Amino acid sequence: MLPALDEAEARHSAALLQHILSRIRAAGGFLDFEAFMNLALYAPGLGYYSAGSAKLGAAGDFTTAPEASGLFGRCVARQCAQILQITGGGDILELGAGTGSMAAAVLTELAALDALPGHYDILEVSADLADRQRQRLDALPRPLRERVRWLEQLPAAPLNGVILANEVLDALPCRRFLVRGTSVEELGVTCADGALAWSARPADAALTAAVRELAPPDGAPLAPGYASEVCRLAEPWIASLAACLGRGVMLLFDYGLPRAQYYHPDRATGTLTCHFRHRAHFDPLINVGVQDITAWVDFTRVARAGQAAGLAVLGFGTQAGFLLGAGIDALLGEARDERERARLAGEARRLLLPGEMGEAYKLLALGRGIDAPLMAFTHQDLSDSL
Ligand SMILES: C[S@@+](CC[C@H](N)C(=O)[O-])C[C@H]1O[C@@H](n2cnc3c(N)ncnc32)[C@H](O)[C@@H]1O
Repeated sequence: MLPALDEAEARHSAALLQHILSRIRAAGGFLDFEAFMNLALYAPGLGYYSAGSAKLGAAGDFTTAPEASGLFGRCVARQCAQILQITGGGDILELGAGTGSMAAAVLTELAALDALPGHYDILEVSADLADRQRQRLDALPRPLRERVRWLEQLPAAPLNGVILANEVLDALPCRRFLVRGTSVEELGVTCADGALAWSARPADAALTAAVRELAPPDGAPLAPGYASEVCRLAEPWIASLAACLGRGVMLLFDYGLPRAQYYHPDRATGTLTCHFRHRAHFDPLINVGVQDITAWVDFTRVARAGQAAGLAVLGFGTQAGFLLGAGIDALLGEARDERERARLAGEARRLLLPGEMGEAYKLLALGRGIDAPLMAFTHQDLSDSL
């Protein structure tokens, strides 16, 4: 059972619920799931990411790899150093930087490697998280802190270097669908007796075509009753990032699968998941505004979006493969004493083990003007599965 909301959470959730209900009425009684998820997560001042709850970390609802261990950011930094060496220096741009933990770890490690970028830019849609990032990064030594800038929009001039995003793609709102007989229905949200409820309507031509593309070209179509989601915002998001990348690499970390595994017949109810106080559940229509809503990433979609935008797929693999390729074992060997060794070993297990974050979490690298193999994929490259 989920924990009960405290008084402040209940008030906040009720305010967002009223806002969403008014938007449903204004839309004629039906909001597609993408519009609902956008409001639930990003409605100004009310959405989960826009408002002030803890969100990430032990006191919040979920823990990401950079929050779980500084080892993750240190490995990301080692990969960034290799890319910056290839590009002859440049900048780093991080999308959706959460609490700023990864930025702090990456900059600290790059300083130790004498490979600092010109700038470390952050583009963050949540004003609340941007404030927390400032507080976190203000504690960095001055030569590191002065490289950090917060952007209001993507840079106009081409960026040479690295674009980073950890667990941002899964937070992009998605559409939901249900295969009914031989046709496709769109699942959305309506109002029933003053509460949110699921509703379905015939999918438009664009969503129907997007769903038809999900089954393998030589395989059976998705079976009647099959429900899942498609993130149609991934393409414009990747295209906008590709448009500002000069020479360099986009490192996209997230949980997800190649398409053939994502839309496997056995995964017939999709991957949509909510996180509230470290409990995962599958009902996005409760606790609006105080719980996270995510869907796994269809990495085939993201890779194709990159290729359509003129980028090359430089590698795809599990988080464990990335960490081993980036030399996590060498970092473990640097522990100063037994106590630190034990702590780092525990953190590394969490990042690496298949039952923890090692296998479900992946890295996709998209790039332009990069011929050398990336260290991230020296241990494993699963690009053929995309
Ligand atoms: C699940 S959190 C991950 C935070 C952080 N990267 C980490 O790994 O701890 C998702 C982050 O993406 C941000 N975000 C969501 N959509 C975004 C977008 N379109 N552009 C930039 N940031 C976005 C959120 O505000 C939040 O900081």
